[in-house]
Amino acid sequence: MLVLAIETSCDETAAAVVRDGRTILSSIVASQVQVHAEYGGVVPEIASRKHLESIVPVVEEALKSAGVGIDAIQGVAVTRGPGLVGALLVGIAAARGIAVGRGIPVAGVNHIESHLLAPFLEQEVAFPYLALAVSGGHTHLYRVDGIGSYATLGQTQDDAAGEAFDKVAKLVGLPYPGGAVIDGLASSGDPAAIRFPRPLLHDGSCNFSFSGLKTSVLTWLQKNPEAKSGQELNDLCASFQAAVCDVLVGKTALALEQTGIQRLVVAGGVACNSGLRGAMERLAGQRGVALHIPRPALCADNAAMVAVPGDYYLSRGLAGGRDLDALPSWPLDRITRELAAAGL
Ligand code: KG4
Ligand code: ZN
Repeated sequence: MLVLAIETSCDETAAAVVRDGRTILSSIVASQVQVHAEYGGVVPEIASRKHLESIVPVVEEALKSAGVGIDAIQGVAVTRGPGLVGALLVGIAAARGIAVGRGIPVAGVNHIESHLLAPFLEQEVAFPYLALAVSGGHTHLYRVDGIGSYATLGQTQDDAAGEAFDKVAKLVGLPYPGGAVIDGLASSGDPAAIRFPRPLLHDGSCNFSFSGLKTSVLTWLQKNPEAKSGQELNDLCASFQAAVCDVLVGKTALALEQTGIQRLVVAGGVACNSGLRGAMERLAGQRGVALHIPRPALCADNAAMVAVPGDYYLSRGLAGGRDLDALPSWPLDRITRELAAAGL
């Protein structure tokens, strides 16, 4: 099936054409980062307006770059949530419009589900696998038993890992979004320079907490106000990143032990982080675990990943119909419960 996928949950307007939920024919991402950087974070109203301006050209570009006409598209998949409601509505309206106009089906897809299934765009992964979703809004560990079958093993009690990166970047005056900038500076810093706490690392649960770590950075900065540039900033970035990575890796190791699962997926924007990628590779090497971290373009928000669950649901007549509404908050476990209640 040839699927047109659309993603507008936050600050990227994205469209992709994907064959059989596996082969990317095109993947276009129009980022609004520059616009929001001025405000130090995503401004929801501006995000909606930018999506509105970009959605048609981005969809047209996706079709053009795939070398297919709209009449070749057999189904539309769109992110229905979680995300910013006004932003989601733009993608959903576009998807419904195309589906109604062409007389083809449309499926609403969960954004986190798309992140967790992104590895399938590169290679098949056997179920069950353990998945760490690390993004601007999520830090969750899931057991994935199949498409549509997810169980939450642990989650952040406060800030998400990406949010912690962005907030710490703001504290030291780095531009939004701060994750990639901290990652770059950290590569020239000493991760052992400052001993930041590893919150909840030894509490025996698979949960996370990052707001205290951010406060520790703030307290340290108040005592060391000169550390906002040069080598000291690099050391601060490296030390903060090491604390986040230690916790992410430690909790993932615990979840692997508790479940006995030998396959691991790390996904979401923070999975672009070079320190985290390296640390997860070491963990997988030590434990003999098969590790799948999609290439950075597939970890960050994109529409190609939406086509993986999208194709699955479309080809089975599931997930939606044309009356899709936005679901700004949509825990993954609900999908599993709803599919089970429907006998699927
Ligand atoms: O998945 P994503 O693109 O959007 C959401 O669904 O939230 O994730 C965005 C988050 C931002 O917080 C950004 O700072 C973070 O991912 N991020 C990184 C890196 N690249 C992006 N965090 C750490 N290191 C990176 N290299
Ligand atoms: Zn995302």
